[in-house]
Amino acid sequence: MGTKKVDILLGLQWGDEGKGKVVDVLTPNYDIVARFQGGPNAGHTLEFEGQKYVLRSIPSGIFQGDKINIIGNGVVLDPLLFQEEATDLAASGHDLKKRLHISKKAHLIMPTHRILDAAYEAAKGKDKVGTTGKGIGPTYADKISRTGLRVGDILGDFDTAYNRAKARHEKMLHDMGFKYDITELETKWLEAIKFLKEFSFVDSEHEINHLLNDGKGVLCEGAQGTMLDVDFGSYPFVTSSNTICAGACTGLGIAPNKIGEVYGIFKAYCTRVGAGPFPTELFDETGKNLAKLGHEFGAVTGRPRRCGWIDLVALRYAVMIDGVTKLIMMKSDILDSFETIKACVAYKINGEEVVDFPYSIEGDIEPVYVELDGWKQDMTKMRSEDEFPEEFNAYITFLEKELGVDIAIVSVGPDRDQTIIR
Ligand code: GDP
Ligand code: IMO
Ligand code: MG
Repeated sequence: MGTKKVDILLGLQWGDEGKGKVVDVLTPNYDIVARFQGGPNAGHTLEFEGQKYVLRSIPSGIFQGDKINIIGNGVVLDPLLFQEEATDLAASGHDLKKRLHISKKAHLIMPTHRILDAAYEAAKGKDKVGTTGKGIGPTYADKISRTGLRVGDILGDFDTAYNRAKARHEKMLHDMGFKYDITELETKWLEAIKFLKEFSFVDSEHEINHLLNDGKGVLCEGAQGTMLDVDFGSYPFVTSSNTICAGACTGLGIAPNKIGEVYGIFKAYCTRVGAGPFPTELFDETGKNLAKLGHEFGAVTGRPRRCGWIDLVALRYAVMIDGVTKLIMMKSDILDSFETIKACVAYKINGEEVVDFPYSIEGDIEPVYVELDGWKQDMTKMRSEDEFPEEFNAYITFLEKELGVDIAIVSVGPDRDQTIIR
């Protein structure tokens, strides 16, 4: 059997596009589902058979039969949050022990990383990023500084490695004058290391490439979104990993020529949680309506998500950076009641129209909108594209033309069943 290609599904906006839901829907077409970056800053929601699950570190392929799920080297893992997640899943009848493999090269989020996250945010004051507070930035910083602690270290002299890293963090926190107490957290965290040890630690780059050579199919699940990418997102209001397509190569050890389809997922409008610029953000009734209808509250932190119209300047950029081959539009139903729908096709900056996503989107940017008619119909019960209202088809055609890629999947509700493959 010839080598199979790897497909990637990733967010094109500022996260929370609905990645978890669609990974679950697509999983039956694959043998392996793998996370390649991010950590428990992610919150991926799945709904089926009247149940709702939120996954943070565990791939969203975990519910569909006996597929292998991999946490790749590019992920940062908090053993304690992982234990909570895995224990909850086991309690609801989803035991992962045999199906979940964890890369030895994934970095561990320590209790002191969480404290450092809080300390850095406090030091930034009004310029804070609005992180999820999960220690993501400090853990990746240690990885890049070559001082990180990896899953594989659990198999060696872990105490020495842990205490060395902890002492370094404690000095940093002391120098910053940041007060904290990790006694309880640390006890639980060290217990969670024992729990983690019961899982299979693997060299996931070997595992994935061997499976590919055996003709097995792999789906990579992105976390966050392209506009939160550390290189190409709205820096410094970004996360600390490469959320883009290329992140799957470095985060799993997959060569670029192994990549097949790139599924780019976006909401029919746009949201952002945390601080940072958002050109199409709405502060009016329409914005409030989007938030209310879309239940736009963070899956992890419960923070309200900021809402606005779809931003095609940013989306075109994301499609380009990620090499998207198929688009997926989510939460179409949230626009069901709107008389008109707006789409930002350009930014007006200092009186000039800009269509290429600029170096910075901070400051005075006036979105240039195209207005489309709303469909004013309940789409949540639709199960085939034949049922799509004419105005909805017009919205799809417009977006496909603007983005230059076909919309292959449309989602009309949170449930697994409310997914229409075109
Ligand atoms: P992720 O982080 O990309 O996996 O997305 P989140 O789970 O954080 O946020 C997406 C939210 O929208 C979740 O609450 C989903 O249940 C919900 N959702 C996903 N698709 C749809 C849809 O088509 N319509 C509606 N109404 N909700 C959706
Ligand atoms: P999923 O995978 C939405 C945002 C945070 C903050 C910034 C940096 O569910 O789409 P971090 O804790 O990563 O250092 O925070 O990134 N952020 C997300 N926003 N969805 C996410 O994940 C996010 N993960 C991080 O709100 O603005
Ligand atoms: Mg989310």
